[in-house]
Amino acid sequence: MNILLIGSGGREHALAWAISASPLCDILFIAPGNPGTARCGANVAMDITRHADIVEFCFTHDVGLVVIGPDAPAVAGLADDLGEAGIKTFGPSRLAAQLEGSKAFNKELCAECGIPTAAFARFTDAHAAHAYVTRKGAPIVIKADGLALGKGVVVAQCVEEAHAAIDSMLGGQFGAASREIVIEECLVGEEVSFFALCDGKTAIPLASAQDHKRVGDGDVGPNTGGMGAYSPAPMLTPALQARVMAEIIAPTMASMADRGMPFRGILYAGLMLTAEGPKLIEYNVRFGDPECQVLLPRLRSDLVVAMLAACDGLLANVTLRWSDAVALTVVLCGRGYPGTPARGGVIAGVDEAESLPDVLVFHAGTAHKDGQLVGNGGRVLNLVGLGATVAEARERAYAAVDMIQWDDGFCRRDIGWRALKDRSVP
Ligand code: AMP
Ligand code: GLY
Repeated sequence: MNILLIGSGGREHALAWAISASPLCDILFIAPGNPGTARCGANVAMDITRHADIVEFCFTHDVGLVVIGPDAPAVAGLADDLGEAGIKTFGPSRLAAQLEGSKAFNKELCAECGIPTAAFARFTDAHAAHAYVTRKGAPIVIKADGLALGKGVVVAQCVEEAHAAIDSMLGGQFGAASREIVIEECLVGEEVSFFALCDGKTAIPLASAQDHKRVGDGDVGPNTGGMGAYSPAPMLTPALQARVMAEIIAPTMASMADRGMPFRGILYAGLMLTAEGPKLIEYNVRFGDPECQVLLPRLRSDLVVAMLAACDGLLANVTLRWSDAVALTVVLCGRGYPGTPARGGVIAGVDEAESLPDVLVFHAGTAHKDGQLVGNGGRVLNLVGLGATVAEARERAYAAVDMIQWDDGFCRRDIGWRALKDRSVP
């Protein structure tokens, strides 16, 4: 079967790597892809916002399965348009993608189903929002309702910061995405990512993973998309996993099916492990990036078989097998990230890093220029180490980092520190 993967980040390189390893995959196309995905299949230069072009490409290239990597195409209804054309698609419909695409939708669903989450209120009126913050005090969290390129959340430590966020968001900072805002109680605890593969009725949990969101060592500085990750995440014990499935994932699946918008694809719950138990911070309707880069190297089952079963509503028959190895990834970023990153600097040493044992390299914001590999984004390369322990995986990942020569690059040096601190880890 020919498969088309949509996206171009580190997550998509990991997906392309796993999909292309399946005996079911004949030709893998990646639109638009990156220099790393080009080594797993054929990159296709295509504007992925033009759904009709994607449909036509599928017909002319006999594509039997489309896999949607990022959230934006799902929220924009790509799965619906492909489905109407009779093309099998792994990824949620536009309505199901509201779980991520509208924070207000997500919060109302939580309220209706009794899913544990931060207390919240919705506002379109700045006056009412300011009054609410004045009453509640800080810390408090201000969120744009819609997708805002990961920048639509302000965890305000003081009320002045909260008032400023209200004014800029309702003042049009993110256009239509911040016409409405959600103001939330600030949860305290450790954050973990939880992933489930869903077919509209059944959800099966994936292995656990945890990322590091802050830009600086010791988890300080501004939030990023993720500076590194590891799997398994020792915090997410089997008992906790069962609780998350029962209290958060299962009621969400049931409610979405009842609403006539069954959720198919990867459901990613961002959780806060609070003193009262796990609470939902947010849903994403895709794999995490860089969590995907540590989950897929541990997956022993055929990813394409699992995705097809999810498309066909047959997950009840599927068991996923995982390796016992620990995977840990360090993200190499362009200087300036999460602000404007330096671009265009030459990157050397990728082949050498890749040739190390138990190391994988997944590209994200790289490009070819004049025959050389250059940095072309914020998060640029993922160096993944595999090992029997967190310490071993981490040693291998950093050995790979140290092979890369790139003047504009930087990374955190402490990925996995929480897991290393936890003595229950192997
Ligand atoms: P989001 O874009 O919803 O993932 O939020 C980005 C980050 O903001 C999360 O990963 C958390 O670190 C933080 N955050 C969001 N909501 C809350 C909350 N209610 N309490 C504490 N931190 C939060
Ligand atoms: N690593 C966090 C995310 O993918 O949103």
